[in-house]
Amino acid sequence: MKTVLVANAKGGSGKTTLAINIAGWAAGRRRKVALQDEDPQGSASQWLARRPPLFPKIDALKTGASRKEAREYEFDWRVIDSPAGLHGEMLRDLIKQADLMLVPLSPSAFDMEATQAFLDMAMERKAVREQKLSVAIVAMRVDARTRSAMELSEFLYGFELPLLTHLRDTQVYVQCARDGLTIFDLPPSRGGQDQEQWKPVISWLLSEGK
Ligand SMILES: Nc1ncnc2c1ncn2[C@@H]1O[C@H](COP(=O)(O)OP(=O)(O)O)[C@@H](O)[C@H]1O
Ligand SMILES: [Mg+2]
Repeated sequence: MKTVLVANAKGGSGKTTLAINIAGWAAGRRRKVALQDEDPQGSASQWLARRPPLFPKIDALKTGASRKEAREYEFDWRVIDSPAGLHGEMLRDLIKQADLMLVPLSPSAFDMEATQAFLDMAMERKAVREQKLSVAIVAMRVDARTRSAMELSEFLYGFELPLLTHLRDTQVYVQCARDGLTIFDLPPSRGGQDQEQWKPVISWLLSEGK
């Protein structure tokens, strides 16, 4: 079982969007997938409750579930969505639970400032320093060929964290979220462009961690 933690202290950075789409991708590959919602706002759980029954199944794993409990159900993937403001003990505990951590990051000044502090905190953790936990960034709501994208890579310079991909700003994510779907549930005519942008994330998910 690989546990993927999706985290960034900044609200609205795209955590839930990343988490549900990772779960949807793995479910689409017929893997046994758990989505664990650690955000009291419950967006990921609400999304899961909206998921139409005929689409690849994703199980809910209760808030606070440990790795040991998750193992009992023999999940291949466990995806943890986390709340805004994540820090301190909860950040430490979730990092301990995870094999991989993905940090969504939008190219606004507010997002980058908040993410700076979050990454500083995360990088202090022993598991991260000793590289027991692989960490990577996903640029959210940005076109790779823009000035914003450039500012984002300048911001990341010095963190030595891979920026896996740029996910464009599109209503496709918003509509999928509304309908309990992921971009991986869509036919190529609707989801193809976004599925393409996810390829580096998928390679990373498959190659990193145990
Ligand atoms: N690539 C994207 N394009 C358009 N809208 C997006 C994209 N990623 C996220 N969103 C939207 O932005 C909002 C915040 O994203 P969300 O995943 O809920 O962030 P968080 O969980 O970090 O608070 C949501 O309404 C979501 O649908
Ligand atoms: Mg969220």
